[in-house]
Parts: sequence; structure tokens; C-alpha cells
Amino acid sequence: MTGSSRISGFHNKSIKERRQALIDGAWLDSTDTAILDRGGIEPALADRMIENVIGLYALPLGIATNFLINGREVLVPMAVEEPSVVAGVSFMARLIREGGGFSADADEPEMIGQIQILDLPDLTAAEKTLLAHREEILAEAAEADPVLVRAGGGPRDIEVRTIDSPLSGPFLVLHLIIDVRDAMGANAVNTACERVAPLIERLTGGRTRLRILSNLADRRLARARCAIPAAALAFEGWSGEAVREGILEAYAFAAADPHRAATHNKGIMNGVDAVVLATGNDWRAVEAGAHAYAARHGTYTSLSTWECDGEGRLAGYLELPMAAGIIGGATRVHPAARAALKILGVRTARELAEVIVSVGLAQNLAALRALSTEGIQHGHMRLHARQVAIAAGASGEAVDRIAGQMVAEHAVRTDRAEALVKQLRK
Ligand code: MEV
Repeated sequence: MTGSSRISGFHNKSIKERRQALIDGAWLDSTDTAILDRGGIEPALADRMIENVIGLYALPLGIATNFLINGREVLVPMAVEEPSVVAGVSFMARLIREGGGFSADADEPEMIGQIQILDLPDLTAAEKTLLAHREEILAEAAEADPVLVRAGGGPRDIEVRTIDSPLSGPFLVLHLIIDVRDAMGANAVNTACERVAPLIERLTGGRTRLRILSNLADRRLARARCAIPAAALAFEGWSGEAVREGILEAYAFAAADPHRAATHNKGIMNGVDAVVLATGNDWRAVEAGAHAYAARHGTYTSLSTWECDGEGRLAGYLELPMAAGIIGGATRVHPAARAALKILGVRTARELAEVIVSVGLAQNLAALRALSTEGIQHGHMRLHARQVAIAAGASGEAVDRIAGQMVAEHAVRTDRAEALVKQLRK
């Protein structure tokens, strides 16, 4: 049984103390923490994962605290290079706890495979034929992955769409809907699409071309909600109501303007991607799905919504496709991803999706709260200053000293950091 995700003073601890806190709270054991020193993998393993390997490329792995999701205490591992992200979500998760935490849910893990069918003289007749042979197509697709079928997943349905392309002329697309259970699902879907393509050609007399999953995984949506009492939003001279109204005005901007929505959604993805990456999942797939979903009504808009509810609380909602798994790919091969999944304590891909979307909502709130009050640079500069100091050659205690001085001087710049490093060395 793991402890509370509200670990007091976690950010003030050393790396060693933080690891000990995870061990004490039964989130991990000492063999798990030991592998984190090396970023989780050895060059030899990397050499088996991709081609032409020359080494490893590491990112910081942080833990976001304070998450309460569907009544469950969750510590969130995040792999990210940007300062403020982990601190921002942890702080917002603490405020959101005051409103009862996140409530989240996710659809069945159904992915869409697309098969493009060309050279059809009569599209309507071909569509009718395909729909009439639905069971035969599903049975053939099921043959592609008997293990998935035994695990309770497998092909669920077909859809046929007509696409009128000015480039290639009209053609059909068959959507093969596959429940991929706890996998991300790309391999299962692509294998099934390739398997059924010859049958599709036999049935229609057409020619199949592409056989590949769609990253617009809009049958596999995850949603998170939160409602924060206005009083919990108050800070340093800002009333809770003023913060809430500022956030609502910021949201109105993103809802109406694609230029702002792209940045607003980037903030959401700061949280989403960091968890997707930490758990060994394909963050490009999740990114592609999120932005395509944000444009689903024809205009690119905000993925989240914010409103003042009947009790004056700030209520947030985020929905996006979430093709992330807990088996297959790097999720099991990469020891750090395995450790991340262990910390999360998720038993299914749906539970993982619920956590990821909650983190996205928290990250969005962190950005909107900062942007609509003191401005993003205030908190950001403190953390950014440390990176500038390190880049200028500072190490150990000098990092915080130089960073602190640059912030105090309002001069967080490489030239100033270099001068301070030189001064300190003298
Ligand atoms: C920076 O990485 C993310 C933000 O730009 C998001 C936003 O503007 O909402 C701060």
C-alpha cells in the first residue's frame, strides 16, 4: 500500500532523500532507484532499440506530488527538460485537492486502422459489399493477433468512408476498429490492417494502398475534470475571485484564437508529454492526436475548457485522444519506464490515460494562473536562471548562488552568468 502523494518538502530534499521518500512510501524499492542513475538503459540495450546507436541521451526525471485522481493518491514521474513544469503541476495538484482532486475517465482502448481502397468503379456498391462482409473481415483481422483476442481485445467493428480527393479521384477508406487493451496498439493495428488488405481487394475488386493506424485516436479519449474553490486560488495580494476571472479571460482567448490556442495547448502538452515519455510511450503519436483533435470542428481551438460553476468554483475540463499503453514497446523494455509505471501504480492503459490527462489539466491551470496574474517569467526565471548558470559553467552550490543573484538583479543572461562564474572562481 503506497502512502500519500502529499510528501511535505519533497522539493527541498536531495535526490538521495527523494529516492528514500519513494522507498519509504512503498512507491519503489532500492533496486528500482539504482537504475535511475544511468537514465535507465545501457548503450547495449539502446543498440537493440534503434539503429546506428552511438550513446545515450538523458533527460531529467522528476516526480510531481499532490495528485489525487479518482480518490487515489498518485505520484507522477515526468521526463522533461523545461524548468517550472514539475513544480507547476505539483502546486496546482495541491490546489485541486482542495476541491476533491481530479475525476478522470477514459474510453475503451479502441484504435482505428485505415485501409485505402483505390480503383473502384462503383464506390457505393463496394461500400455495401464491405459492410455485408463485416463479420468475415473482423474474423480475418482477429487471426492477426490471437493473444490480443485471448486478452479480451481484438477487432470490434468496421466503418467505410468515401474520400473525394482532387489528386487521386474518389476512393474508399475502411476503418478497422481494434480494442488494443493495455498496449499503445500501433503494432496490433498495423498488422491487422496488412492482414485484411488482400481480403478487402478480393471482396471489392479494388486495389489497397495504405494500411496504417490513424493517430487521430478519437475513439480512445481520456477526460479529466477539476473544480477549485475560489478561496484556494488566492495568493500574494490576488483574491481568489480575481485569479478565477483572470483564468477565465485567458481561456476565452484560447477558445477564440488559433494562435493563442496553439500556445495554450502546448502548455497542456508540457504535462502530457512528460508523463508519456517517462512511461516509454510514443509522445509524437499523442501530440499528433491531440492537435488533430483540437481542430476537429474545422478551426483549431483549446483542448481544455474553464468556467465558473454554480458554487463559484473554477471548473476545468480536458479531453483528448490518449494512445498510451503499459505493455509493449519501450514501456516494458526500458527499465526507467518500468519504474515510472510502478510509481504510478496503474493497472491498465485506461488508468494511465486518466493520469496523463489529469496532469495535462494541472499544467494548463499552472500556465493560465501565472499568465493571468504575475506573468509567466516571474516563477519561470528563478528556475531558468539555474540552467543559465549551469550553461555558463557553474556547478554545485554556485548554481543556486549565481541563479539567485541574476534573479535579484533582473539579469538572467548568459553574459552575466559567465561574469559571475569568473568572479567566483577568482
Ligand atoms: C510554456 O512552455 C507554456 C506556456 O506558454 C503555456 C501557455 O501559454 O498557456 C506558458
